[in-house]
Amino acid sequence: MAASQAHQLWIIEAIGLKLAASASHIDSPNASLTLGQRLYAALRESIQSGALAPGSQLPASRRLAAALGIGRNTVLGAVERLVAEGFLRAQPGSGVFVAEWQPPPPAPRGGSDVLPPLSARGTRILDFERTLSGRHSAFAPGVPALDRFPRERWQRLLRRHQQRAPTAWFDYQSQGGVSALREVLCDYLQLSRSVRCHPGQILITQGAQQGFELVARLLADVGDTLWMEEPGYGGAQSCFVSAGLALEPVPVDAEGMNVAALAADTPAPRLIYVTPSHQYPCGVTLPLSRRMALLALARHHRAWIIEDDYDSEFRYASAPIASLQGLIEEAPVIYVGTFSKVLYPGLRLGYLVLPEALVEPFRRANARLHREGQYLVQAALADFIGEGHFARHVAQMRECYRQRQAALREALAPAVARGLVLSAGQAGMHLVARLDTLDEERTLVEQAAAADILLSPLSQYYLRAPVQAGLVLGYAGATPAEIARAGGWLARRWLALHGAD
Ligand SMILES: Cc1ncc(COP(=O)(O)O)c(C=O)c1O
Repeated sequence: MAASQAHQLWIIEAIGLKLAASASHIDSPNASLTLGQRLYAALRESIQSGALAPGSQLPASRRLAAALGIGRNTVLGAVERLVAEGFLRAQPGSGVFVAEWQPPPPAPRGGSDVLPPLSARGTRILDFERTLSGRHSAFAPGVPALDRFPRERWQRLLRRHQQRAPTAWFDYQSQGGVSALREVLCDYLQLSRSVRCHPGQILITQGAQQGFELVARLLADVGDTLWMEEPGYGGAQSCFVSAGLALEPVPVDAEGMNVAALAADTPAPRLIYVTPSHQYPCGVTLPLSRRMALLALARHHRAWIIEDDYDSEFRYASAPIASLQGLIEEAPVIYVGTFSKVLYPGLRLGYLVLPEALVEPFRRANARLHREGQYLVQAALADFIGEGHFARHVAQMRECYRQRQAALREALAPAVARGLVLSAGQAGMHLVARLDTLDEERTLVEQAAAADILLSPLSQYYLRAPVQAGLVLGYAGATPAEIARAGGWLARRWLALHGAD
């Protein structure tokens, strides 16, 4: 039914008022829009607020334009857009009407109630959030010496490939990574990590985290059990939780993951996550006898071992330890590597070394779930490794971290002399300081925050109580001066808490 003349007049006046208001108020969100955009906004607002009721007829475009003193095309443009968006309905021969539509019920008042909440899984993932090591200072764990990264050389390699890259590299990819990178990586892994592989078994990922995610999703189902080192790496814990796995903590002792300590009724694993070369965060190395036992156990349960070899390059006093994957033929192991520690975390490049049978499914699933990319960067990285810059950088970082660790030990020496226990080892990028109580841990973490020092509590690396109190002290990303300052502070605070000056 056509609207009455009076109603049409009212509509014109109401829209005219809105238009004038949006033009005159400098701070109106519509002030910088064109006339057509402002007309569109005025009409839409009137419809959404209910001022223009569903079913009511809009004045003819010619009339509306004349009454508002604007061009007819401006009116037609705004009306067409609202028709396309479903706010107006054009009825040929009759005119344009406000569409029948139901505004959503008003949101309940009050902050977080307004939006649907996070899922239970989402909430659990956030529970696993540990101290984020996004700071290039003492004592952020896991951050390499970003100040020592050879940026200019890296830039040159990137530029080289930017110019040369085939157009296909700008497209979607599904080959598992740049073949040149997989070849040099394969050489490196065979020689320095005793990994048994050929280049085709390597799948380039966006870091270890994505590797864990793929393994969890492709080799386990929701509710399956994963054995996890206790204490262990929070990034992997969150990833496995988000895949819906049931995490079963396995105690870590002076020789690493100790499956013999598990209760007899512990659910059998589908996956076993382990950092055998340098347990994260305790820093111990899994001895050969335990490695062989773990492999036998995985075979017995038909489980896969996820070997996270995140920082094995950084042994200062001895040669790197051979991988678990390479110990026996056809080991039930997925080897996970990352460039986050050797180069820099923002690079987001890592890799999986997969048993032959898993290569195709993983390649296809990765391309489907995550999409591949960064081929240009991968090609630059292949040259970085192939031309010897990688080996040189690793050697320099080994020396740098050896010195930084020594600086930390020196700074903490007064406390160590009075009983503070530090983890042993000539490897890695962090040390663990053991504390007597969780209260002491909390006090130190809080006091450090006030002094702008980042302390990661060891208790947060545990899935379950009881926990060992302590501090994970990353030193690799901090300068010697910063280590001396923060280390000196920590030694003094620890001594004060223990009644010694
Ligand atoms: C034990 C462990 N594994 C893997 C990684 C690397 O993860 P990504 O490659 O996702 O940066 C880290 C980094 O902190 C780590 O501590």
